[in-house]
Amino acid sequence: MPDSRLAPASAPNAAPAPLGLYIHWPFCVSKCPYCDFNSHVAGELDEAAWLRSMCAELDHMAGIAAETLSTDNVRLDTIFFGGGTPSLMPPQIVSAVINKAATLFSFADNIEITAEANPNSAEMKQMKSFHSAGINRLSLGIQSLDNEGLAFLGRAHSVDEACKALEQALGLFERVSADLIYGLPEQSAAEWQEQLTRIIGFGIRHLSAYQLTIEPGTIFHSRTRAGATLTAEPDHVADLYELTEDITAAAGLPAYEVSNYAAARHQARHNLTYWRSGNWIAVGPGAHGRITYPDQQKRRHFRLRRSPQGWLNDVAQNGHAIEEDRTETARDMYEEYWMMGLRLVSGMPLTPPFLAHEMAPPASALCLDADWQARFCEEGWLIEEGGYLKASLAGRMRLDYMLGKLLG
Ligand SMILES: C[S@@+](CC[C@H](N)C(=O)[O-])C[C@H]1O[C@@H](n2cnc3c(N)ncnc32)[C@H](O)[C@@H]1O
Ligand code: SF4
Repeated sequence: MPDSRLAPASAPNAAPAPLGLYIHWPFCVSKCPYCDFNSHVAGELDEAAWLRSMCAELDHMAGIAAETLSTDNVRLDTIFFGGGTPSLMPPQIVSAVINKAATLFSFADNIEITAEANPNSAEMKQMKSFHSAGINRLSLGIQSLDNEGLAFLGRAHSVDEACKALEQALGLFERVSADLIYGLPEQSAAEWQEQLTRIIGFGIRHLSAYQLTIEPGTIFHSRTRAGATLTAEPDHVADLYELTEDITAAAGLPAYEVSNYAAARHQARHNLTYWRSGNWIAVGPGAHGRITYPDQQKRRHFRLRRSPQGWLNDVAQNGHAIEEDRTETARDMYEEYWMMGLRLVSGMPLTPPFLAHEMAPPASALCLDADWQARFCEEGWLIEEGGYLKASLAGRMRLDYMLGKLLG
């Protein structure tokens, strides 16, 4: 088992290696019919076992980070409690995990510690304890400001509850984000505009607006296969996407990623680590992490066991529930670099850091298809600027198609 105490000590004045930490809480009050996240309706929970196991796996992951980064001088920049529904976590587990992390890593002065929360009144009662535990950013799953929309999405809260939760969150946390889902059947542009204007009017500085997607394995998927129409027409959804960009930009929360909008300096730093191919470790059922080795030439990729009970059993037995631990190929790194990086409005440097290195493998496997790249630039879907490649609004609307062609 890797142990941080065995990792080679870094040079005394070397800058600490920045790292993100993702914690997955896999339980929800009910299962939403559109959701394919690793989330389950919980029965009785053995709280002590969950607390012990989360801390044990975090300990193991700290060892992996130190071993992979060849330093025990690691600084946590962000922690993200995602789910499932982290707002259902017993606050003592949240607190224990943050305290444990503080014993294993140094914390950035401005560390961002986010929790996802469902805006149910019962869960919101816990938010003071979450704040005391160290959470400083709340991401609230509002999803819709229309009661019919909430019912369609099978949500366990009302618009009234959601609005009260948002006000409470804004009074308690330094940073608050809201999630909305759009592109529901029959959703008009006027209705979506009203929702956007209303949610921004609360004073949030960050918004995630997701197009409703029919994910395999969900109830919505079965219903779609049986003939139901559960999303708006694609052309109309594209119009709603453009409208979202216009309204958020006019309100001072411009798009910075395909589905994310924020005021300056309010971007979700934890998620930026994913989009910029940064380093993060993970704890909890089904979570996964990535750490690039210091030579920039290899990336460690690990994934934890998905089933909550299986995860608990594995951690009790081995101190971790790693199901997959592999070294990505340069091609894997290259593909993920563009698949994540082109989601960002700023794009990414045309030459990834691992290609700027003399040990880079033959470039033929590590370049974008030049013909398609030129064609997309001509169309105005891609933009090359200042050594960066980025997708325009029109490009972000057809990103999957472009990536398919660019990465062949
Ligand atoms: C981990 S999920 C949920 C967090 C929290 N449990 C909740 O439901 O609010 C994060 C976000 O993904 C979005 N999401 C999940 N499934 C989706 C789907 N099929 N289509 C569009 N957005 C989806 C929702 O907006 C949700 O808030
Ligand atoms: S959308 Fe959120 S609350 Fe609903 S099942 Fe998925 S993770 Fe749970």
